[in-house]
Amino acid sequence: MYKEFYGFESFPFNITPNPRFLFLSGTHLDALQHLRYGVEQRKGFIALVGEVGCGKTTLCRRLLEELDREVYETALILNPSLSEEQLLRAILTELGEAVESNAKVDLLDQLNRVLLARIEAGKEIVLIIDEAQNLSLELLEQIRMLSNLETDEQKLLQIILMGQPELSEKLARKELRQLRQRILVYYELGKLNLPELEHYIHHRLTLAGGRGRPRFTRWAIKSIHRRSGGVPRLINNLCDKALLAAFVRGSDQVTWWDVRRARKEL
Ligand SMILES: Nc1ncnc2c1ncn2[C@@H]1O[C@H](COP(=O)(O)OP(=O)(O)OP(=O)(O)O)[C@@H](O)[C@H]1O
Ligand SMILES: [Mg+2]
Repeated sequence: MYKEFYGFESFPFNITPNPRFLFLSGTHLDALQHLRYGVEQRKGFIALVGEVGCGKTTLCRRLLEELDREVYETALILNPSLSEEQLLRAILTELGEAVESNAKVDLLDQLNRVLLARIEAGKEIVLIIDEAQNLSLELLEQIRMLSNLETDEQKLLQIILMGQPELSEKLARKELRQLRQRILVYYELGKLNLPELEHYIHHRLTLAGGRGRPRFTRWAIKSIHRRSGGVPRLINNLCDKALLAAFVRGSDQVTWWDVRRARKEL
């Protein structure tokens, strides 16, 4: 396979959201800074919106790695197609608590107690909900209520909502205006421009252990940019298949023709 042929230690264009491969393009750096700012300044609600495959989950994992474990306790909900009770249970479990009851009032009560105890112990708590475009209106309302948990001095919980553009549409609904008003940090993730895309490819090739082989030609890169629209997951799919095509030719260059073959295969 091309991995051995080009001397990579791992596949450079894997589509898992591995933060080790994170390339900080302008928009990704901006997004990360918004997240850091929101959490550090205790802004309560933070929203990160971006197209499918733009890097939201990867950024979220990076943020989790960065947050100081001595201070921050985090609860990450990856799939929020849940009932209200299930969500509360999931948050408690993520915080390492044994759930005491299944009734909503009890769960809320327990969560409140847990949060207060952690805050008293000097901790900060961050709840991250990925794929938040899948949250029902009821659940979004429930989450707003969670953000009401507070002491005289501070909110008990920082909440980050991450999701595809439908999340924005949901948040724009009249029923959710109370929630919308509380989102003090909001960022829309963009796509990679041509120079960034070129850096992105080099960055991933290098991190995978590549030593300058193979080289993507200028026309290959232009074609990848056009076909992917600068969306990282699409870039990865195209690059992976184009590498395979170049390998099959036994070449040290990934050319426009390899990208064309990749496109056809996808
Ligand atoms: N800035 C980046 N640097 C390196 N790789 C990235 C970057 N952004 C995205 N990727 C890669 O693109 C792929 C898709 O990223 P990710 O899963 O984070 O997107 P997403 O926005 O969460 O997508 P979805 O909307 O489907 O949940 C992953 O393989 C990830 O490693
Ligand atoms: Mg994702």
